[in-house]
Amino acid sequence: MLKLQNKIALITGGTSGIGKATAIDFIEQGATVIITGRNQISVDATVKMLGENAHGIVADSANIEELKQLAIKVKALTGKVDVLYVNAGYGRFLMIEEVDEPHFDEIFNVIVKGTLFTVQSILPLMSEGGSIILNTSSATEQGLHGASVYSAAKSAVQSFVKTFAAELSTRKIRLNAVSPGPIESDFFINTGMNQEEIDNFTSVLLPKVPMARFGKSSEVAKAVTFLASDDSSYMHGTEIFVDGGQVQF
Ligand SMILES: NC(=O)c1ccc[n+]([C@@H]2O[C@H](COP(=O)([O-])OP(=O)(O)OC[C@H]3O[C@@H](n4cnc5c(N)ncnc54)[C@H](OP(=O)(O)O)[C@@H]3O)[C@@H](O)[C@H]2O)c1
Repeated sequence: MLKLQNKIALITGGTSGIGKATAIDFIEQGATVIITGRNQISVDATVKMLGENAHGIVADSANIEELKQLAIKVKALTGKVDVLYVNAGYGRFLMIEEVDEPHFDEIFNVIVKGTLFTVQSILPLMSEGGSIILNTSSATEQGLHGASVYSAAKSAVQSFVKTFAAELSTRKIRLNAVSPGPIESDFFINTGMNQEEIDNFTSVLLPKVPMARFGKSSEVAKAVTFLASDDSSYMHGTEIFVDGGQVQF
């Protein structure tokens, strides 16, 4: 029996990296998947790659109005959502002296505001027994240079895990999070760092990972699928680290 047979899943930020790998895994487990992204061309290309059980909707997770429109479009397309993976996001890294208001707003808009209003918008469509998974980060567990705003934003999402889970219990919707460590994806390219800066950043990160390698997006996807499925039926309000042991030692 496939783990997500006949389930409808919505994955925000499904055009690349962890979201795309999760879409592949969900479909392999029998789900129909709707992915989002900000760009029509990459959404269309991803849907084509994923095949007939995939749909795509362009929606900017940092924009509340677009999230409301997303809910309307999802309702028209599938009528309900069984699994919501709130994954859309990216990082920018600045030392405290360099942080300015646009940097703060940009990161908090996509990660904090985006997560809260994605859940709020999609909640009326969530089926009883459904599962919501939030994307946090191992960055919250350490003092990583340049990550004050990104870590604070992901820490806010960690806080949502507990409050949202408490509030959703009566609706029989489970809510948990997956916290990735350093993962191979477009994440580091999209930080705006050049290759030398990325190399410097990762040379600080990697020695802290006991498994001494980056994780694969597909390795994060497996944990998301577990939380999406009934295999995790007694898990609620918690966080799974997929980080090669980075924050455990
Ligand atoms: N890679 C890591 O080391 C790592 C570690 C911990 C946590 N994370 C988190 O994992 C999540 C996925 O990142 P990734 O590593 O898979 O990076 P990625 O390959 O760059 O993928 C990011 C995805 O999010 C989408 N996205 C970004 N901003 C969006 C917005 N405002 N609205 C809608 N979609 C948006 C992107 O689509 P478009 O660009 O097409 O809009 C893309 O599909 C992020 O929340 C990130 O913070 C990553």
